[in-house]
Amino acid sequence: MPIVVFHRNGEVHRGEVKENTNLVVRAGIKQFPYPHLRYECGMGKCSKCACLVLGGAEHLPPPNWKEKKQLGERLAQGYRLACQLWIEHDIELVQGDLEAA
Ligand code: FES
Repeated sequence: MPIVVFHRNGEVHRGEVKENTNLVVRAGIKQFPYPHLRYECGMGKCSKCACLVLGGAEHLPPPNWKEKKQLGERLAQGYRLACQLWIEHDIELVQGDLEAA
């Protein structure tokens, strides 16, 4: 099962998730990475869930139109919207104030 390493505010949180997991959906039911993950709409509209992918980006599908619209040039820097990702492989993400919308 995929291992998720999530960095936030200088802390590192690590958890194992089922394949095809959406981290915003999990946080919504108070499972890891709750309460550390910042998000709001869960629908690709607010970009509050934006994360910089530190590892495992090669396993992710290409950004969808919502990510392109919300992230713009941050996509090229390696950002993705957590609410638009279904995790199937190990991944390492960072979310911090600098990444805030
Ligand atoms: S939670 Fe709003 S864009 Fe992801």
